[in-house]
Amino acid sequence: MQTKIKNICCIGAGYVGGPTMAVIAKNCPNIAVNVVDVNQERINLWNSKNIDDIPIYEPGLHEIVKKCRGKNLNFSSDVKGCIKKADMIFISVNTPTKKKGIGAGKASDLKWVEVCAREVAQYSSGYTIVVEKSTLPVKTAEVIKNILEAAQIYPNTEHSVKFDVLSNPEFLAEGSAIKDLENPDRVLIGGENIEAMNALTNIYEKWVPKEKILHTNIWSSELAKLTANAFLAQRISSINSISALCEATGADVREVARAIGTDTRIGSKFLDSGPGFGGSCFKKDILNLVYLSNHYGLNEVANFWESVVTLNTWHQHRISQLIVKKLFGTITGKKICILGFSFKENTNDTRESAAITICKDLLEEGALLAIHDPKVERKQIEKDLSTKENPNIKFLESNMYKYSEGNWCYAEEINEAIQGSDAVIVLTGWGIYKNIDWGKVTKIIRRPAWVFDVRSILSKEDFEESDLNLWMIGDGSII
Ligand code: NAD
Ligand code: UGA
Repeated sequence: MQTKIKNICCIGAGYVGGPTMAVIAKNCPNIAVNVVDVNQERINLWNSKNIDDIPIYEPGLHEIVKKCRGKNLNFSSDVKGCIKKADMIFISVNTPTKKKGIGAGKASDLKWVEVCAREVAQYSSGYTIVVEKSTLPVKTAEVIKNILEAAQIYPNTEHSVKFDVLSNPEFLAEGSAIKDLENPDRVLIGGENIEAMNALTNIYEKWVPKEKILHTNIWSSELAKLTANAFLAQRISSINSISALCEATGADVREVARAIGTDTRIGSKFLDSGPGFGGSCFKKDILNLVYLSNHYGLNEVANFWESVVTLNTWHQHRISQLIVKKLFGTITGKKICILGFSFKENTNDTRESAAITICKDLLEEGALLAIHDPKVERKQIEKDLSTKENPNIKFLESNMYKYSEGNWCYAEEINEAIQGSDAVIVLTGWGIYKNIDWGKVTKIIRRPAWVFDVRSILSKEDFEESDLNLWMIGDGSII
């Protein structure tokens, strides 16, 4: 028998729930897709009249939301009503690292997932397929199943219920989410009941070639997601560790990356050295893997993966330290221009952004930061730095010291951020930073000045007409 899905509910309207459901709605016009969230403010933004106000900036997302919203794609806070109507429910809620209690600092906090499972158990009716879309520790499906089974044993009086649980982790990367969803390398579906797995497969088959849809057992699927992120993050820590060695020896990390990346066994992707990986998932997922490994008594495995995170943290502070060193050992009262605050280009997400760590370090050293980002809002930066903005810094020309140390301001324009500063630091690889006229910058910056290209996106030739000192990550030839 084939289960035909007509109504989907996605719990969680975040960076995964929103784009993922938009792409399903676009490709499956006959399925009603309801995205629900307890955060009313977020839902209001998803329903904004002005499409530019939707809460997530992601290339291509606006167009899909514009096309499908109000047709087969709806955003609401009616969690109960939407669960009740759905024959397939995606759990796409946040799974951050636990802050306290057992496993604090490493294990995933599953309280939001558990709440969802209980709500599904309480409100759903008939046969429902529950899909884990959130990234979860191996064996979480067991917890969800236990909660759902309790609902089956004590069915509510109105109707009987039956569930199947699937794992369908999401591999999209922010900034390219729509591209990744429309043309994924693979779709992974883990489960026990082949009929339920086929019901989900049928949805993806509307736009994903069949051979890219992989079926595994549920535990492999859960573990594969954590492993994929750990392997990706491991490559970044590996190349960042080599960048430090390049700077010390005169080698150039781009050349080293090119040389090793042509080995087909290694491959060329994910070898860009930068300020250290950010984003909401790499650190939390590796720490989760560390916790699980320790839990199963595999301490060497845990230590191996933990070193990826340790290196990343060290690398971020290394960048802050070398900036201070280059600026004659002190940045107290100096204006420093920060270009880019999001954790990578093409997203407004700042979670775990390397810019947060580096800016905090520089503020601690007494710097006055002028921060520019084309998509991140000033209130988000204020939250991330836990320091109120001092907008007066932007009027600063020469009298640096009259402002108290360790302040920051938001700059709407790049030039406004650069004006009168001692250094410019490129922390996010936004395309607009590649077009800066460095010859003109020479005239508005305080010399001797440094440009720190921590993303390696600038070209050395553009500096030939300027008297600026250029530092590039991992470039031992210009140190
Ligand atoms: P997010 O914080 O942006 O969104 C989660 C949303 O769930 C929030 O809006 C929150 O209000 C809502 N929520 C929490 N509990 C709820 C409940 N009981 N009922 C209704 N809504 C509830 O998180 P995200 O970035 O979308 O990540 C979600 C999951 O997907 C995480 O497990 C993450 O690891 C995984 N993931 C994220 C990415 C990414 O690029 N961000 C990629 C792949 C996988
Ligand atoms: C990452 C994975 O790439 C996705 O497959 C996964 O679904 C997602 O995590 C998740 O589970 O949340 P994301 O964090 O959105 O996606 O973005 P990435 O492109 O992986 O970048 C992560 C960080 O690594 C960024 O700070 C980025 O600048 C940095 N990075 C990436 C480098 O420093 N060098 C590289 O070569 C690549």
